[in-house]
Amino acid sequence: MNEIYQPGHHPYQDAPLSQQPQRRPILAIREVNRIYHQGEREIHVLNNVSADIFKGEAVALVGPSGSGKSTLLHILGLLDKPDDGKVYLKGHECSDFDDKQRTAMRRSEIGFVYQFHQLLPEFSALENVIIPQLINGSSNKEATSRAKVILEFLGLSHRITHRPNSMSGGEQQRVAIARAIANEPSLLLADEPTGNLDPSTAERVFQQLMGLIRQTGLAAIIATHNMELANRMDRVIQLQEGKLYTFTPQQPQQD
Ligand SMILES: Nc1ncnc2c1ncn2[C@@H]1O[C@H](COP(=O)(O)OP(=O)(O)OP(=O)(O)O)[C@@H](O)[C@H]1O
Ligand SMILES: [Mg+2]
Repeated sequence: MNEIYQPGHHPYQDAPLSQQPQRRPILAIREVNRIYHQGEREIHVLNNVSADIFKGEAVALVGPSGSGKSTLLHILGLLDKPDDGKVYLKGHECSDFDDKQRTAMRRSEIGFVYQFHQLLPEFSALENVIIPQLINGSSNKEATSRAKVILEFLGLSHRITHRPNSMSGGEQQRVAIARAIANEPSLLLADEPTGNLDPSTAERVFQQLMGLIRQTGLAAIIATHNMELANRMDRVIQLQEGKLYTFTPQQPQQD
């Protein structure tokens, strides 16, 4: 089981960012702004948002519908660019990256889990976990062996040849989680990963997700509407009217 938890090769070296080198954030954002234009109207979804996320932390991202959780996750996942502000991943200022660099960084350092699994329907569970590794340069043998280990860890050994449409919702989401961590990213971003599951399946998937975060030392940001799950993570950050607040039990403070 240990083999997937050994640190993998990453093409980027850590670069200095913080004045606190002993506790350098995996992810840091500074004064990030995102404005959408709808006709004449401007929606200031993220208004000077700053935050640090550290290795091994599971952070819940909460906020009302439309508050900008997905928008923020897309910016953190280098799928979208802020209008203004900086995004640092492992000390690299990604706001300056061109598309090729962003893609390379995303592939090796970031795993994404969506509310709807978004697995490739024509491929088996195993293949869905192998493919991103092949794209990232792993050999077929290496990718297959790692995919099997991760799927086994998530209790899916008996489902590896199944295609997504012959698996339950919880199984599909667990395959999506396996796919997201297949390249040993340092950051896992999940957008309501249990939002589409019944409560008991959601609980099981959540427990497995937390187990993986604990075992791998990943930093994870998990958007959720479920405050009960949010309160079981290490920290809760809340988006409200464009601002980001950090909750240390029951006491909101602005970041
Ligand atoms: N591409 C876009 N163009 C214009 N407005 C957008 C776009 N994407 C999002 N928005 C607006 O930005 C705001 C934030 O949306 P976002 O999807 O980030 O919210 P959310 O917190 O993820 O909501 P939910 O909990 O419903 O998933 C909303 O008002 C939304 O309508
Ligand atoms: Mg959303």
